[in-house]
Amino acid sequence: MSFLVSQAASSPLSGTASIPGDKSLSHRALMFAALAKGETTITGLLPSEDVLATRMALASLGVDFRDHPDGTVFVNSPGYQHFQEPEDIWNMGNSGTSARLLMGMICNLPFRVFMTGDASLRRRPMGRVMQPLSQFGATITARQNNLLPLLIQGATHPVPITYTLPVPSAQVKSAILLAGLMCPGETTVMEPQPSRDHTERLLAYYQIPHRITQDPQGLRSITVTGYPEIHPRPLHVVADPSSAAFVMVAALLIPGSYVVMPKVGLNPLRTGLMDTLREMGGDIQIHNQTVISGEEVGDIVVRGSVLRGVTVPAERAPRMIDEYPILSVAAAFAQGSTHMHGLSELRVKESNRLQAILDGLSAVGVRAESHGDSLTVYGQNTVSGGATIATHFDHRMAMSFFVMGLRTQSPIHIQGWESIHTSFPTFLECMGRIGVVWTIGG
Ligand code: S3P
Repeated sequence: MSFLVSQAASSPLSGTASIPGDKSLSHRALMFAALAKGETTITGLLPSEDVLATRMALASLGVDFRDHPDGTVFVNSPGYQHFQEPEDIWNMGNSGTSARLLMGMICNLPFRVFMTGDASLRRRPMGRVMQPLSQFGATITARQNNLLPLLIQGATHPVPITYTLPVPSAQVKSAILLAGLMCPGETTVMEPQPSRDHTERLLAYYQIPHRITQDPQGLRSITVTGYPEIHPRPLHVVADPSSAAFVMVAALLIPGSYVVMPKVGLNPLRTGLMDTLREMGGDIQIHNQTVISGEEVGDIVVRGSVLRGVTVPAERAPRMIDEYPILSVAAAFAQGSTHMHGLSELRVKESNRLQAILDGLSAVGVRAESHGDSLTVYGQNTVSGGATIATHFDHRMAMSFFVMGLRTQSPIHIQGWESIHTSFPTFLECMGRIGVVWTIGG
């Protein structure tokens, strides 16, 4: 087994970091291109393992994909009315987004799909999608406790549903909206706390009839009408703010750094970490803001900064749900303590991230504690490091502790670092370009 070893940066980080396409948007770009009858051109798509899992599944429904050497992907689809039953089991690998959104996409089609995933995905809760999707009329049979593998028998006479999300989840919301497109009548999903709205923005971009309303209590309702005509539209996937987060924190933590990240997605429901890091004193600026394929985007410019501890309110959690591991690393070097609230969903990510953060911080010599759904990290000037971090095959844990190693006294060894390929295959190359040095050891 090999280890990725990150070691203290000996000079400021500088240069341009090219961040790959957004993972959430890449899945959705492929799915919307598959829904539309005809050819769609997608640029900026993230070529990662998670996204490939979605692509393989869609290919088995009868969708054709062609790659240009410059990364452009041409998608040719017969349209959702002509999807065919996959001949083989779908293996979604590590990808919760593939599993949950695709369940929505096929649960109202008259055939059967078998689905599984890797050891991490087979532990993640699927009941949260099975429950609403069954209300359309689909029969979904899973392992005990609603775990993968599972079998979906699509509804032959689907009925529309109205569903209030019990947990803020863009994956569950999107699964219901996709299912609603293949069901007569109006399907409504309501969310008490706003989660990333990429699916809704794509509905608008594709001019698919839908309504969005918000009541005075903040309950947001999204309604789609079944069986719309969907025409191909060119799509560009903007760079992933959740991947940019690692470069951003690395640059903030190394004094004197100056790093530019061009064309990163700035959807306000994804920018919770940026807000938090600015509150902590981080020098982060945005230039050239514009909108591409319905998503805000801009160049992020980060300078090395002295950070101080803050309190991150629970309401912000859905806007930065994937960023708590890297925020914890920033907090470890901040002046004072950082309190983060509303973290219950961290327990059901690619790993139990709340526990993994606590274990990792303790291994490298940082004091942290968790009570209920909250986490406190006590910042310190120097961190010993010198530990081996078990990432539990969680890409975000691997990259977070890699960044931690850039400021620790002794190098950090990252076990299971290969999981980085699920979301940021060019991570090491990108870090190398701005001056980071690492080794891979046996
Ligand atoms: C995602 C939604 C979030 C996020 C995940 C991607 C999406 O999950 O953690 O990485 O693409 O919709 P939840 O919907 O479970 O919060």
